[in-house]
Amino acid sequence: MKIIVLGSAAGGGFPQWNCNCRNCAGVRSGAVRATPRTQSSIAVSANGSDWVLINASPDILSQLRATPALQPARAARDSGIAAVILMDAQVDHVTGLLMLREAGAPLPLYCSASVWGDLNTGLPLAPVLGHYCGVQWHELALAGAVSLPGIEGITFTALDLSSKAPPYSPHRHNPAPGDNIGLLIADSASGKSLFYAPGLGAVDPRVDAAMRGADCVLVDGTFWRADEMQRLGFSAKSAADMGHLPQSGANGMLALLEGIGARRKILIHINNTNPILDDDSAERASLARHGVEVAFDGMEIDL
Ligand code: MLT
Ligand code: MN
Ligand code: ZN
Repeated sequence: MKIIVLGSAAGGGFPQWNCNCRNCAGVRSGAVRATPRTQSSIAVSANGSDWVLINASPDILSQLRATPALQPARAARDSGIAAVILMDAQVDHVTGLLMLREAGAPLPLYCSASVWGDLNTGLPLAPVLGHYCGVQWHELALAGAVSLPGIEGITFTALDLSSKAPPYSPHRHNPAPGDNIGLLIADSASGKSLFYAPGLGAVDPRVDAAMRGADCVLVDGTFWRADEMQRLGFSAKSAADMGHLPQSGANGMLALLEGIGARRKILIHINNTNPILDDDSAERASLARHGVEVAFDGMEIDL
Protein backbone atom coordinates (compact mmCIF):
# COMPACT_ATOMS: atom_id res chain seq x y z
CA MET A 1 0.00 0.00 0.00
CA LYS A 2 0.99 3.58 -0.53
CA ILE A 3 0.56 6.39 1.97
CA ILE A 4 0.80 10.01 0.82
CA VAL A 5 1.24 12.75 3.39
CA LEU A 6 -1.06 15.51 2.13
CA GLY A 7 -0.34 17.82 5.05
CA SER A 8 2.15 17.52 7.90
CA ALA A 9 1.55 20.58 10.13
CA ALA A 10 -0.65 20.98 13.19
CA GLY A 11 -3.61 23.38 13.36
CA GLY A 12 -2.67 26.74 11.85
CA GLY A 13 -0.20 25.25 9.37
CA PHE A 14 3.35 26.51 8.85
CA PRO A 15 3.83 29.43 8.71
CA GLN A 16 0.68 30.28 10.64
CA TRP A 17 -1.11 33.36 9.25
CA ASN A 18 -0.74 35.53 12.37
CA CYS A 19 2.43 34.09 13.88
CA ASN A 20 5.82 35.76 14.16
CA CYS A 21 7.63 33.09 16.15
CA ARG A 22 11.21 32.36 15.09
CA ASN A 23 10.09 29.60 12.71
CA CYS A 24 7.17 31.44 11.10
CA ALA A 25 9.02 34.74 10.69
CA GLY A 26 12.17 32.89 9.61
CA VAL A 27 10.52 30.79 6.90
CA ARG A 28 8.82 33.92 5.53
CA SER A 29 12.03 35.96 5.39
CA GLY A 30 14.31 33.08 4.43
CA ALA A 31 16.38 33.46 7.63
CA VAL A 32 15.40 29.94 8.73
CA ARG A 33 15.92 26.96 6.39
CA ALA A 34 12.53 25.24 6.61
CA THR A 35 9.68 24.05 4.38
CA PRO A 36 6.12 25.40 4.65
CA ARG A 37 3.54 22.76 5.54
CA THR A 38 -0.25 22.47 5.36
CA GLN A 39 -2.52 21.06 8.08
CA SER A 40 -2.30 17.34 8.73
CA SER A 41 -3.97 14.75 6.54
CA ILE A 42 -2.90 11.55 4.78
CA ALA A 43 -4.28 9.39 1.96
CA VAL A 44 -3.90 5.60 1.74
CA SER A 45 -4.42 3.21 -1.19
CA ALA A 46 -3.47 -0.34 -2.08
CA ASN A 47 -4.39 -0.22 -5.79
CA GLY A 48 -3.28 3.37 -6.52
CA SER A 49 -6.72 4.46 -7.73
CA ASP A 50 -9.10 4.17 -4.74
CA TRP A 51 -7.92 6.25 -1.80
CA VAL A 52 -9.04 6.67 1.78
CA LEU A 53 -8.64 10.24 2.95
CA ILE A 54 -7.74 10.26 6.64
CA ASN A 55 -8.80 13.60 8.09
CA ALA A 56 -10.11 16.41 5.92
CA SER A 57 -7.95 19.47 6.51
CA PRO A 58 -9.08 23.01 5.71
CA ASP A 59 -6.15 22.98 3.24
CA ILE A 60 -7.60 20.06 1.27
CA LEU A 61 -8.10 21.90 -2.01
CA SER A 62 -4.45 22.91 -2.29
CA GLN A 63 -3.43 19.44 -1.08
CA LEU A 64 -5.46 17.80 -3.86
CA ARG A 65 -4.04 20.19 -6.46
CA ALA A 66 -0.57 19.11 -5.35
CA THR A 67 -1.41 15.37 -5.53
CA PRO A 68 -2.24 14.14 -9.08
CA ALA A 69 -2.59 10.53 -7.81
CA LEU A 70 -5.83 11.54 -6.09
CA GLN A 71 -7.32 12.95 -9.32
CA PRO A 72 -7.65 9.95 -11.70
CA ALA A 73 -10.18 11.80 -13.97
CA ARG A 74 -12.10 8.69 -15.07
CA ALA A 75 -15.28 10.73 -15.64
CA ALA A 76 -16.27 14.34 -16.25
CA ARG A 77 -16.56 14.73 -12.47
CA ASP A 78 -14.39 12.33 -10.47
CA SER A 79 -12.10 11.95 -7.48
CA GLY A 80 -9.78 9.27 -6.21
CA ILE A 81 -11.22 9.78 -2.70
CA ALA A 82 -13.44 6.73 -2.14
CA ALA A 83 -14.00 7.21 1.60
CA VAL A 84 -13.04 9.50 4.47
CA ILE A 85 -11.94 8.47 7.97
CA LEU A 86 -11.76 11.00 10.81
CA MET A 87 -9.38 10.54 13.75
CA ASP A 88 -11.12 13.19 15.87
CA ALA A 89 -13.45 16.17 15.39
CA GLN A 90 -10.80 18.93 15.67
CA VAL A 91 -11.24 21.93 13.38
CA ASP A 92 -7.95 21.18 11.56
CA HIS A 93 -9.12 17.62 10.79
CA VAL A 94 -12.75 18.01 9.74
CA THR A 95 -13.49 21.39 8.16
CA GLY A 96 -12.14 20.25 4.77
CA LEU A 97 -15.33 18.17 4.48
CA LEU A 98 -17.10 21.41 3.50
CA MET A 99 -14.73 21.72 0.52
CA LEU A 100 -15.89 18.30 -0.76
CA ARG A 101 -19.55 19.41 -0.99
CA GLU A 102 -19.59 19.22 -4.80
CA ALA A 103 -19.38 15.38 -4.61
CA GLY A 104 -21.99 13.72 -6.80
CA ALA A 105 -23.08 11.25 -4.10
CA PRO A 106 -23.14 11.28 -0.28
CA LEU A 107 -19.59 11.15 1.11
CA PRO A 108 -18.82 7.80 2.76
CA LEU A 109 -17.60 8.91 6.19
CA TYR A 110 -16.15 6.62 8.88
CA CYS A 111 -15.72 7.96 12.40
CA SER A 112 -16.59 7.16 16.00
CA ALA A 113 -20.06 7.85 17.40
CA SER A 114 -18.64 10.63 19.59
CA VAL A 115 -17.00 12.42 16.62
CA TRP A 116 -20.23 12.02 14.63
CA GLY A 117 -22.10 13.53 17.58
CA ASP A 118 -19.82 16.60 17.57
CA LEU A 119 -20.33 17.03 13.82
CA ASN A 120 -24.08 17.13 14.40
CA THR A 121 -24.02 19.51 17.40
CA GLY A 122 -21.06 21.74 18.35
CA LEU A 123 -19.75 21.94 14.76
CA PRO A 124 -22.76 20.86 12.66
CA LEU A 125 -20.96 20.03 9.41
CA ALA A 126 -23.14 16.95 8.82
CA PRO A 127 -26.49 18.81 8.64
CA VAL A 128 -24.85 21.58 6.58
CA LEU A 129 -23.49 19.01 4.09
CA GLY A 130 -27.00 17.53 3.98
CA HIS A 131 -27.91 20.55 1.86
CA TYR A 132 -25.15 19.68 -0.64
CA CYS A 133 -23.78 16.16 -1.29
CA GLY A 134 -24.85 14.68 2.05
CA VAL A 135 -22.84 12.34 4.24
CA GLN A 136 -23.22 8.58 4.56
CA TRP A 137 -21.95 7.91 8.09
CA HIS A 138 -20.63 4.51 9.16
CA GLU A 139 -19.65 4.05 12.78
CA LEU A 140 -15.99 3.16 13.13
CA ALA A 141 -15.86 0.50 15.82
CA LEU A 142 -13.22 0.96 18.52
CA ALA A 143 -11.98 -2.62 18.26
CA GLY A 144 -11.24 -5.14 15.56
CA ALA A 145 -9.99 -4.83 11.99
CA VAL A 146 -12.48 -3.57 9.40
CA SER A 147 -12.32 -3.24 5.64
CA LEU A 148 -14.19 -0.49 3.82
CA PRO A 149 -16.41 -1.14 0.78
CA GLY A 150 -14.61 -0.06 -2.39
CA ILE A 151 -11.19 -0.17 -0.71
CA GLU A 152 -9.47 -3.40 -1.62
CA GLY A 153 -6.53 -4.85 0.23
CA ILE A 154 -6.38 -2.68 3.37
CA THR A 155 -7.75 -3.20 6.87
CA PHE A 156 -8.20 -0.51 9.51
CA THR A 157 -8.17 -1.07 13.26
CA ALA A 158 -9.18 1.88 15.44
CA LEU A 159 -7.73 2.28 18.94
CA ASP A 160 -9.39 4.62 21.39
CA LEU A 161 -6.83 7.12 22.74
CA SER A 162 -7.08 8.98 26.00
CA SER A 163 -7.66 12.60 24.99
CA LYS A 164 -10.26 15.35 24.95
CA ALA A 165 -13.03 16.35 22.58
CA PRO A 166 -12.42 19.69 20.79
CA PRO A 167 -12.96 22.99 22.65
CA TYR A 168 -16.35 23.51 20.94
CA SER A 169 -17.69 20.06 21.83
CA PRO A 170 -20.71 19.81 24.15
CA HIS A 171 -18.77 17.08 25.99
CA ARG A 172 -15.37 18.82 26.09
CA HIS A 173 -15.13 18.25 29.86
CA ASN A 174 -16.69 14.80 29.70
CA PRO A 175 -14.36 12.62 27.61
CA ALA A 176 -16.08 9.85 25.61
CA PRO A 177 -14.48 6.78 24.00
CA GLY A 178 -13.59 7.61 20.40
CA ASP A 179 -13.04 11.37 20.87
CA ASN A 180 -9.58 10.66 19.49
CA ILE A 181 -8.31 7.46 17.88
CA GLY A 182 -5.13 5.90 16.58
CA LEU A 183 -5.33 3.68 13.49
CA LEU A 184 -3.47 0.52 12.61
CA ILE A 185 -3.58 0.37 8.81
CA ALA A 186 -2.53 -2.97 7.33
CA ASP A 187 -1.90 -4.14 3.77
CA SER A 188 -3.65 -7.49 3.41
CA ALA A 189 -1.26 -8.78 0.73
CA SER A 190 2.08 -7.88 2.29
CA GLY A 191 0.99 -7.92 5.92
CA LYS A 192 2.87 -4.64 6.39
CA SER A 193 1.30 -2.05 8.66
CA LEU A 194 1.32 1.61 9.60
CA PHE A 195 0.37 2.96 13.01
CA TYR A 196 -1.06 6.46 12.57
CA ALA A 197 -1.79 8.81 15.47
CA PRO A 198 -1.40 12.55 14.72
CA GLY A 199 -2.72 13.36 18.20
CA LEU A 200 -1.26 11.14 20.90
CA GLY A 201 -1.17 12.39 24.47
CA ALA A 202 -0.28 9.20 26.31
CA VAL A 203 0.79 5.68 25.44
CA ASP A 204 -1.00 2.86 27.23
CA PRO A 205 -0.12 -0.83 26.79
CA ARG A 206 -2.53 -1.26 23.80
CA VAL A 207 -1.01 1.67 21.96
CA ASP A 208 2.49 0.51 22.86
CA ALA A 209 1.72 -2.95 21.42
CA ALA A 210 0.26 -1.45 18.24
CA MET A 211 3.35 0.71 17.77
CA ARG A 212 5.70 -2.20 18.39
CA GLY A 213 3.83 -4.37 15.89
CA ALA A 214 3.85 -1.80 13.07
CA ASP A 215 6.41 -1.56 10.27
CA CYS A 216 6.09 2.21 10.28
CA VAL A 217 4.80 4.63 12.91
CA LEU A 218 3.52 8.05 11.89
CA VAL A 219 2.83 9.81 15.16
CA ASP A 220 2.26 13.07 17.02
CA GLY A 221 5.08 15.54 16.38
CA THR A 222 3.23 18.63 17.63
CA PHE A 223 5.62 19.99 20.27
CA TRP A 224 9.28 19.58 21.18
CA ARG A 225 8.77 20.87 24.72
CA ALA A 226 5.99 20.24 27.22
CA ASP A 227 5.69 24.01 27.86
CA GLU A 228 6.45 25.23 24.31
CA MET A 229 3.34 27.44 23.93
CA GLN A 230 3.59 28.77 27.47
CA ARG A 231 7.27 29.78 27.13
CA LEU A 232 6.46 31.71 23.95
CA GLY A 233 3.50 33.38 25.68
CA PHE A 234 1.12 31.97 23.02
CA SER A 235 -1.08 29.88 25.30
CA ALA A 236 -1.58 29.00 28.94
CA LYS A 237 -1.93 25.35 27.95
CA SER A 238 0.81 22.75 28.13
CA ALA A 239 1.29 20.04 25.49
CA ALA A 240 -0.45 17.62 27.86
CA ASP A 241 -3.42 19.99 28.28
CA MET A 242 -3.78 19.87 24.49
CA GLY A 243 -3.48 16.07 24.31
CA HIS A 244 0.00 15.94 22.81
CA LEU A 245 3.11 14.09 24.01
CA PRO A 246 6.19 16.32 23.50
CA GLN A 247 9.30 14.86 21.89
CA SER A 248 11.80 15.88 24.59
CA GLY A 249 12.04 14.66 28.17
CA ALA A 250 12.64 11.36 29.90
CA ASN A 251 9.12 10.15 29.05
CA GLY A 252 8.79 12.02 25.77
CA MET A 253 8.10 10.71 22.28
CA LEU A 254 11.80 10.36 21.40
CA ALA A 255 12.48 8.17 24.42
CA LEU A 256 9.41 6.12 23.55
CA LEU A 257 10.40 5.68 19.91
CA GLU A 258 13.89 4.65 20.99
CA GLY A 259 12.45 1.39 22.33
CA ILE A 260 10.32 0.62 19.27
CA GLY A 261 11.61 -1.56 16.49
CA ALA A 262 9.55 -0.07 13.63
CA ARG A 263 11.43 0.13 10.35
CA ARG A 264 10.43 3.77 9.95
CA LYS A 265 9.55 6.28 12.67
CA ILE A 266 8.06 9.51 11.39
CA LEU A 267 6.63 12.58 13.16
CA ILE A 268 3.56 14.38 11.75
CA HIS A 269 1.15 17.14 12.90
CA ILE A 270 4.07 19.46 13.68
CA ASN A 271 3.24 22.77 15.28
CA ASN A 272 4.77 25.88 13.75
CA THR A 273 6.63 26.64 17.02
CA ASN A 274 8.49 23.30 17.01
CA PRO A 275 12.27 23.71 16.48
CA ILE A 276 12.40 20.45 14.46
CA LEU A 277 10.92 22.44 11.54
CA ASP A 278 14.26 24.27 11.27
CA ASP A 279 16.40 21.99 9.10
CA ASP A 280 19.53 23.31 10.81
CA SER A 281 18.38 23.05 14.44
CA ALA A 282 20.05 20.95 17.15
CA GLU A 283 16.65 19.33 17.81
CA ARG A 284 16.39 18.22 14.18
CA ALA A 285 19.91 16.78 14.37
CA SER A 286 18.92 14.92 17.51
CA LEU A 287 15.98 13.32 15.67
CA ALA A 288 18.31 12.24 12.89
CA ARG A 289 20.65 10.61 15.41
CA HIS A 290 17.65 8.67 16.75
CA GLY A 291 16.59 7.58 13.24
CA VAL A 292 13.38 9.63 13.45
CA GLU A 293 12.09 11.38 10.33
CA VAL A 294 9.97 14.53 10.02
CA ALA A 295 7.00 14.26 7.65
CA PHE A 296 6.65 16.84 4.89
CA ASP A 297 3.81 17.57 2.49
CA GLY A 298 4.04 15.17 -0.45
CA MET A 299 6.04 12.52 1.44
CA GLU A 300 5.23 9.02 0.17
CA ILE A 301 5.52 5.85 2.24
CA ASP A 302 5.41 2.43 0.56
CA LEU A 303 4.59 -0.55 2.74
C1 MLT B 1 -4.45 20.35 18.09
O1 MLT B 1 -4.38 19.22 17.67
O2 MLT B 1 -4.23 20.64 19.28
C2 MLT B 1 -4.87 21.37 17.08
O3 MLT B 1 -3.94 21.44 16.05
C3 MLT B 1 -5.46 22.58 17.58
C4 MLT B 1 -6.19 23.34 16.50
O4 MLT B 1 -6.55 22.82 15.46
O5 MLT B 1 -6.41 24.53 16.71
MN1 MN C 1 -4.62 19.36 15.46
ZN1 ZN D 1 4.77 30.35 14.53
